[in-house]
Amino acid sequence: MSAASRSMRRPPFWRFARKRQTETKIQEMPPVLKAAPDRRTWDTLLWQRLWRRKIARRMFYELVGLALMGRRDMQVLNCGYREPGYPAFALRPEWEIERLGFQLYHRLTRSVAMNGADVIEIGCGRGGGARFLAENFGPRSYWATDNSRLLIAGNRLRRRPMGLRFRFARADRVPFKAASFDIGLSVETMHCLSDKAAFLDEMARVLRPAGRLLIADFFYQRDSSPSALSVFKKAVRESAWEVDDEQDWTSNTVASLEADSPRRFGEIARLPRMIRKYVLSFASTVESPLYHQLRDGRAAYVHFALSLRRGSRPARPPGDERLR
Ligand SMILES: C[S@@+](CC[C@H](N)C(=O)[O-])C[C@H]1O[C@@H](n2cnc3c(N)ncnc32)[C@H](O)[C@@H]1O
Repeated sequence: MSAASRSMRRPPFWRFARKRQTETKIQEMPPVLKAAPDRRTWDTLLWQRLWRRKIARRMFYELVGLALMGRRDMQVLNCGYREPGYPAFALRPEWEIERLGFQLYHRLTRSVAMNGADVIEIGCGRGGGARFLAENFGPRSYWATDNSRLLIAGNRLRRRPMGLRFRFARADRVPFKAASFDIGLSVETMHCLSDKAAFLDEMARVLRPAGRLLIADFFYQRDSSPSALSVFKKAVRESAWEVDDEQDWTSNTVASLEADSPRRFGEIARLPRMIRKYVLSFASTVESPLYHQLRDGRAAYVHFALSLRRGSRPARPPGDERLR
């Protein structure tokens, strides 16, 4: 196929991105973009290999923290949640453009009473979800943690509602006393963790006996993947937690990615040309492998609500060096 006919069939994504479309304009998206293949080339495979290394993942999020340090938008870094007829909820006008990302936080916490509760979030990213929940649902305290120092530094620079504090912490080692929290949240951080069992143990330590741990993330169906659904479920079975609720949100995630991709393309189009391809593959757009894996069943987006088994004990004794 000549270059000319190829470009007629498949216009570059940034031409569409420039329009900065919003969710309601999904029908304007070029169909050829929606049918984009899940391409694998040597450099994207290399990138995926690198991603498996903890240090690479950390560096990546530090870079994200640095790149977004001065920006007021891009508050959420997740796939979002879209459901036809989802009840409207109030959102600050400047966050409207990222409604689907905030909606994921809204949906995840719909079943818990946050008013007056002590909340810990693991992997808060840019802190948008934390701000939204702390501002609207009245927790007594909300500790938003992340293991990117730059993301935490950026979050501390921006104004925050009462009760919300940001702190550097690794998911498997948080600097809080045992039994300090009522609710634990983790939005799309699970897939970054090499040791999910250590995370579950640490959450069992810092949550109170009646505490709930709410998780939303994508998982792979291939058992050999460190982020396989089977691996996570096994870790839960062997932990102090039991599953109260498990819901498949794959179709909501796919719908969200389709609706939000034009906006994401707009952001990617502002980056240097040579890195766009790589950003496209992990930035959760309809051009990313994740989108195709979710669509064809190789991956699933799942929500878990966990509660502590009766009589289960904190995995580590209270009163150690990691005090508040
Ligand atoms: C995909 S982002 C999600 C951010 C946020 N939850 C949101 O929805 O906007 C994943 C976040 O997890 C954080 N993370 C990755 N590994 C972590 C770990 N071991 N401990 C704590 N946070 C971690 C990253 O720094 C990043 O901010």
